[in-house]
Amino acid sequence: MKIALGSDHGGYSLKEVIKKFLDEKAIAYEDFGTYSTESTDYPQFAEKVAKAVVSGVCERGILCCGTGIGISIAANKVPGIRCAAVSEPYSALMSREHNNANVLALGARVVGEGLALQIVEVWLNAEFVGGRHANRVNLISEIEKKYCK
Ligand code: RB5
Repeated sequence: MKIALGSDHGGYSLKEVIKKFLDEKAIAYEDFGTYSTESTDYPQFAEKVAKAVVSGVCERGILCCGTGIGISIAANKVPGIRCAAVSEPYSALMSREHNNANVLALGARVVGEGLALQIVEVWLNAEFVGGRHANRVNLISEIEKKYCK
């Protein structure tokens, strides 16, 4: 599994911590920036990561900004992306099992590094359970088809 990573300046430090964690676990990733704490705009990194995921270059993505909110909203504008902004492990698990989230968003100003890594670990190890949830995820795709022309 290859992970697409992205952040703005607010999430840069957390992205670096996540990279170290992925290195330790020998999980492949591609870093789409930002590459410093210099102020920048989160939508561009959300789009790069989202594009990598929908194109199949990366299987899943992880995004970080100050709150995880702006970057998740931006990523969710790309058809095919189901990005979950999460701040605890239970929601991380459910976002995979029930919602088949293909991108995780974290707020570096919301969660500490330890909690963030716990969330990442749970999220990476969880799988979509399908069944009745597959129908619901398909209904989300139907909405997307209706409005994204
Ligand atoms: C940047 O200051 C901040 O607004 C951004 O990182 C994020 O929290 C937006 O949702």
